[in-house]
Amino acid sequence: METKKYYDEFETIVGDILTHTEFQKIKKIDHHGNGLFEHSVAVGYYSYRVARFLRMDCHSIARAATLHDFFLESWQGKVKTEKGFNRIKEMHGFSHPKTALENAEKYFDIDERQADMIVKHMFPLTPIPPMNLGSWVVTAVDKCVATNELIFKNTQPIKRLKSLMSRA
Ligand SMILES: [Fe+2]
Ligand SMILES: [Fe+2]
Repeated sequence: METKKYYDEFETIVGDILTHTEFQKIKKIDHHGNGLFEHSVAVGYYSYRVARFLRMDCHSIARAATLHDFFLESWQGKVKTEKGFNRIKEMHGFSHPKTALENAEKYFDIDERQADMIVKHMFPLTPIPPMNLGSWVVTAVDKCVATNELIFKNTQPIKRLKSLMSRA
C-alpha cells in the first residue's frame, strides 16, 4: 500500500529520534489538546510528504520538522519572572524554538539548514524570516497541523498516524 510505503520511509528517517530517551519525554507534554509527541510526529510526517512531493531534501526536512518543538517543560502554568521586553522574550511562543534547537543540537546532528527550520518555525511571531525553502515547509505544515488540532482536537490525520506512533 502506498501510504504504508511513506510511513516506513518516514520511520526509517526519524526512527532514532522517535525512540530516543530524551525525545520520548515529550510524550508527557500536552499540546493543543493532543500530546506534543503526536504533534511532532504529525508535523514531521507531513513536512516529509510535502518535501518529497516537491522533490526537496525530505530526509533533512523530516528530521528537523520532527524536532521543531523539542522542549521538555510544559509551558502551561509556567510562572513568568521577567518584566517588560524580557517578559515578551520569555513567553513560550517566542522562546520555545530556541529551546527546541538547543535540545536538538544536544542530542542529534543538526546542520545549519535544519537549525534554521527549527528556530524559525514560529515565523511571523518570531520576526526573522526563514532562510531556506525547507524552513518555509516546516513553518507552514506546523501551522496547518496546529490549526487542525485546535479546531478538531483528535484529528483524522493524527489518528491515521497512530499505528506508526504506537510502534515508536
Ligand atoms: Fe512550536
Ligand atoms: Fe509545533
